[in-house]
Formats: sequence, structure tokens, C-alpha cells
Amino acid sequence: MVQGFSTRRALQPDAVFLGDMLVEAANWRAGGMRPRHEVLTSADHRRYLAGWKRSADDGLIAIADEGISVGAAWYRLLPQNEPGFGFVGGAVPELIIGVHPLWRARGVGRTLLRGIVELAGSQGHARISLSVERDNFARNLYRAEGFTVMTQGPLRDTMVRRTA
Ligand SMILES: CC(C)(COP(=O)(O)OP(=O)(O)OC[C@H]1O[C@@H](n2cnc3c(N)ncnc32)[C@H](O)[C@@H]1OP(=O)(O)O)[C@@H](O)C(=O)NCCC(=O)NCCS
Repeated sequence: MVQGFSTRRALQPDAVFLGDMLVEAANWRAGGMRPRHEVLTSADHRRYLAGWKRSADDGLIAIADEGISVGAAWYRLLPQNEPGFGFVGGAVPELIIGVHPLWRARGVGRTLLRGIVELAGSQGHARISLSVERDNFARNLYRAEGFTVMTQGPLRDTMVRRTA
């Protein structure tokens, strides 16, 4: 089956596209319309991207055969005093994933997810975490790909997966 896309390692100049995908993740709910600048400067979200690409940052970009970036998954280590929504520990990277709306439900997200888990393992990370709101269908995708719920909040869960 022709996928129509491939993946490559995320680089420093991908920061703008990662910003686009961070906005998609923040606005995942139908009708979510937080403006880009508001998401990227908010205390909750800026920590996932500010200063990209730091030495421990890593990620993957999905590229359509036409050469356009259509999705991204990346991770970063966040300190205990500035944790992300899915903070598990200072040595456990937290994952962000987003796919361009026109490219959803075509296998890009699952491919990125599998790839980023493998990448994290190859970089010496035993586990990777994420945070997902309870009513986001992506929760089922994460579960199917081996993530398990570690902590439950009122609205969102922290999920973790071993990389090996
Ligand atoms: C979540 C997201 C990254 C998944 O990427 P994707 O490329 O759409 O996912 P895939 O095509 O690989 O599909 C994975 C599974 O989810 C299912 N799926 C895809 N879109 C769906 C939808 N809108 N509702 C329910 N299930 C859906 C697919 O059917 C597939 O399952 P299957 O293989 O059993 O059929 C993407 O939809 C996205 O960017 N959403 C908005 C941002 C977001 O929610 N980010 C995550 C925040 S935690």
C-alpha cells in the first residue's frame, strides 16, 4: 500500500512547523481556535518548544511525497520545577504529537508514534510519557500502541510507555 509520506529526523529549522503542530495539539477539540501566538506564548505550552532544538530534544517529521511537512512528534526533558502536563520525572521525556488536519486518519500519527518510541529508546530513554485529555480519541491510539495510564487527573491522563 502506498502511504504517501515518509518520516525524517526533526531539525532546528523545523521549529516553525513544530509550532504549527503544537497549536494543533492545543486546539484538538473540534472548534478549538486558540490563536497561534497565544498557544506559543502560554506558560502551559511554550515549554514544549521554546529554544528548540536543545541537546536532549529529538523528534520526527512526517513529509508528504510532495515534500510538505504534514505531521510531527517530538519529545523534550522538562525539569521538575517547570513540568509539562505529562510530567513523570526529570529523566523521562514528554512527547507531543500533531498531524495536519488534511492528513489525519491516514496512518501518519501511528507511524510517528512508533517511530518516536523507537527513537527515544535509541537515545537511551527507558520510558516516554505524554498527557492526553480523557475525551480525545488519541487516547485509544496511545493505548493500542502500548502506553498505559500512570496518573489520572480530573480531565486528563498521563500515559507512559517503555521504549524496549
Ligand atoms: C491524534 C493524531 C496525532 C493522530 O494522528 P492521525 O494521523 O490522525 O492518526 P492515524 O491515522 O495514525 O490513526 C490512528 C488511529 O486513530 C483512528 N482515528 C483517526 N482519526 C480519528 C478520529 N477523528 N476519531 C476516532 N478515531 C480516529 C484511526 O482510525 C486509527 O485507528 P485504526 O488504525 O484502528 O483505524 C491527530 O489526529 C492529531 O493531530 N489530532 C489533533 C492534535 C491532537 O489531538 N494531538 C494529541 C494531543 S494528546
